[in-house]
Amino acid sequence: MSHSFPKTLGGLLLIYLLASCVTQPSVRGASYKQSVEDLVVYSDVVDTIFEQNCITCHNADEREGELNLETYEGLLKGGDSGYSIATGDKEDSELFLRITLPHDDADFMPAEDKPPLSEIEVAIIGWWIESGADLDLTVGATPGVPSEFSDYFQEIVDSMISPKELDRREKARHELYANIAGVQERTGALIIPLEPNASEFSVETFSVQKTFNDDSLSLLKPYAANIAEANFCNTQLTDQALEVLASFENLQVLNLSNTHIEGKNLGSLAELKHLKSLNLYGTPISSDSIQELLELTQLKSLYLFQTELYSEDALSQIREALPNCNLGGG
Ligand code: HEC
Repeated sequence: MSHSFPKTLGGLLLIYLLASCVTQPSVRGASYKQSVEDLVVYSDVVDTIFEQNCITCHNADEREGELNLETYEGLLKGGDSGYSIATGDKEDSELFLRITLPHDDADFMPAEDKPPLSEIEVAIIGWWIESGADLDLTVGATPGVPSEFSDYFQEIVDSMISPKELDRREKARHELYANIAGVQERTGALIIPLEPNASEFSVETFSVQKTFNDDSLSLLKPYAANIAEANFCNTQLTDQALEVLASFENLQVLNLSNTHIEGKNLGSLAELKHLKSLNLYGTPISSDSIQELLELTQLKSLYLFQTELYSEDALSQIREALPNCNLGGG
């Protein structure tokens, strides 16, 4: 029997390492600077303006008008009409003319009614061309920087994240993921990030429905703020769980269907400002809990099928108190 590539953790790790080699951070674009003086006008400012407004149509593949604005070389090379910038002379620069035409002119850039560059962005590009359109030119090394650029430059500096801060965030994320993995192991629940590397998670309890109870839920408490979606369908949760769940401040979707929730303290979920969807299908929630339920005015959808509250009278009360809530399945 021949050996196939092992579907083991080792194999996965190898794939991961290979993938991470391909996704090395690109050298293109802005990089952290401590002050406005350190800003490199092309890579930290002008290139960012192109990136946000032009490169959807002017990149290595798309090259409208034969112009690629993704790289400094592409910019200098120009397009169909020859050079796009004449270093030192903005009035002779095709690119500068295109961004300063009347906005309804057919040749105006960005094309196709895309939002025009701001006045300050146009002025900065013009000033950079006049200063020689050098690749390495910094704000500090350029004499006579117009003072009206200061706020724009400062905003760029403020939006840059220092390597130290990046490092701190990365460490915090690693710690969170390690801790979450621990909780996952102890509860048997599946806890997955909503997006790769996100700090918001969804909890699934499919494989541990018979054993997942109020104590299991308590193990999630330290990460309450990180849980955005939770599916506890068919688990052993009781009203005690509601007290714990009231601390899941970022919870948006909560499925408690077929649990033992009776709903005596259901009103405590009113604190969850982001809770959009609540599923109580098949729970022993009693009709006495309706007042508690009516406090949940933040809800956009509520499922009550197969409960005591799935009666005409109760539903009409709920519709009146929660007019923006869709009563799915009723
Ligand atoms: C929605 C697509 C689109 C966007 C966005 C866009 N362009 Fe263009 N651009 C075109 C097309 C199509 C042409 C070719 C037709 C023409 O010359 O007008 C062109 C041509 C040009 C040319 C002339 C090239 C040459 O040598 O003939 C310049 C310069 C230019 N664009 C600059 C820009 C700049 C700067 C931006 C961003 C501020 C931008 N474009 C955004 C579609 C776009």
